[in-house]
Amino acid sequence: MTPSAVFEEYRDAARSLLAGAAAAEGRSAPSAFVRTFGCQQNEADSERLKGALNSLGCVIAEEPDDADVILVNTCAIREHAENRALSVIGQFKHLKAVRPTLVIGICGCMTAEPHRRDQLKHSFPYVDFTMPPASESLLPKLICDAFADKRSFIEDAAPQTEAVRPYRGESFKAWVSVMYGCNNFCSYCIVPYVRGRERSRPAEEVEREVRELVAAGCKDVTLLGQNVNSYRGGCDFAALLDRLCRIEGDFVLRFMTSHPKDATDALIDVIAREPKIARHFHLPLQSGSDRILRQMNRKYDRARYLSLVRSLREKVPEIAITTDVIVGFPGETEEDFLDTLDLLRTVRFDMIYAFIYSPRKGTPAAEMPDQIPREVQNARFDRLLALQNAVSEEINSAMVGKTFRVLSEGPSKTDPAVLAGRTDSNKLVLFEGNAPQGVFTEVKITGAEPYALRGTEE
Ligand code: SAH
Ligand code: SF4
Ligand code: F3S
Repeated sequence: MTPSAVFEEYRDAARSLLAGAAAAEGRSAPSAFVRTFGCQQNEADSERLKGALNSLGCVIAEEPDDADVILVNTCAIREHAENRALSVIGQFKHLKAVRPTLVIGICGCMTAEPHRRDQLKHSFPYVDFTMPPASESLLPKLICDAFADKRSFIEDAAPQTEAVRPYRGESFKAWVSVMYGCNNFCSYCIVPYVRGRERSRPAEEVEREVRELVAAGCKDVTLLGQNVNSYRGGCDFAALLDRLCRIEGDFVLRFMTSHPKDATDALIDVIAREPKIARHFHLPLQSGSDRILRQMNRKYDRARYLSLVRSLREKVPEIAITTDVIVGFPGETEEDFLDTLDLLRTVRFDMIYAFIYSPRKGTPAAEMPDQIPREVQNARFDRLLALQNAVSEEINSAMVGKTFRVLSEGPSKTDPAVLAGRTDSNKLVLFEGNAPQGVFTEVKITGAEPYALRGTEE
């Protein structure tokens, strides 16, 4: 049976069970709450889960309290992410105690780990089901099973279904998955185990989705994949970008993530040529030591990384480059760490996302000797951030006095009197002005911090 057929077979039954549960409490429609952890790919998956719930008649709620269905979309990338998800799941126990018809489902990367599935089954008896990433076609059946008091702990992911339309909270920006899974098996990383092998969506399908989004007023489209550079949906990634830039309209096209081993000249050329593509490149480094890069199975070295950066800056001088760094990988010596600091000084990234290495059960790195003590990891992490904060602040300070195009995101989260927005190079700008959400405007930069710019609308 196709995934769409599986979805449709149980859709009406799940719909009426949910409608009945809401009516029993005097509400006109059932509601669903989805809590998301992890990366943008997971955010995009949650939009598909919400889309599926929507087509089962549910209103999407901002709070869990009155929900008829609660889904927690989990992340397994580091232990901290898993602990946070488990603690949130724990908080839903009392809701189920007051309302036994509440359906609680756990989705996403954590549920694809056998030991976590067992833990959820045995230590969280009020959880009705677990479901691997991107398996929303199974949702109607799992909801029907939950109403029949049957618990399910699904091991295998279901193929994606086009029967579900993502439910997007904001209309001015959107995530669009172009591929799922990962084939790279970096030695520290759980993703290939929990998300399976790479699958690319056909270019026509991606193009249709982006066209519809732009026609509906979307101004900022981010193409997602664990390694978009190995996209093979009938063309390569550079050709896909080229094709999407032919879509008429005023919008910014972003993408993430790029693996340095697969970034091509064709990709850099298309960025240089096409003004619709963001002036931002996220190029995860992980370590500046060749020895550690080999241990990580990253398949590039410092020299290759630096030559990519050189070529990017030669062809696209205004590009902002950001990266991911892992600190305290097994066997990392002070010398290896100094190599990373040195590379950061050489490249001068606009921003970095730094992570303390977290052993993941089942990955080769978790079994490596010489795991680094927590105090050493923490001290290196602090040194890394201190260096990068200084660099980011210098780079951002050089923008003061200049004017940039900014896409307004509306009032900022911390101070509603100030607007927030992003430059084409993806820098956060907090500014005084009137531009409503989803409108491009010109902002003069008046101040700089490591993580944000301040400005005034021109
Ligand atoms: N596919 C992307 C990365 C996705 S995970 C890529 O290869 O670029 C996002 C980041 O989490 C990684 O770049 C890495 O820096 C970090 N990460 C992954 N596994 C980790 C682990 N076990 N411990 C700490 N950080 C990790
Ligand atoms: Fe993980 Fe490496 Fe795949 Fe990125 S490329 S998801 S770090 S295995
Ligand atoms: Fe986490 Fe899964 Fe993304 S492990 S980082 S949610 S791919």
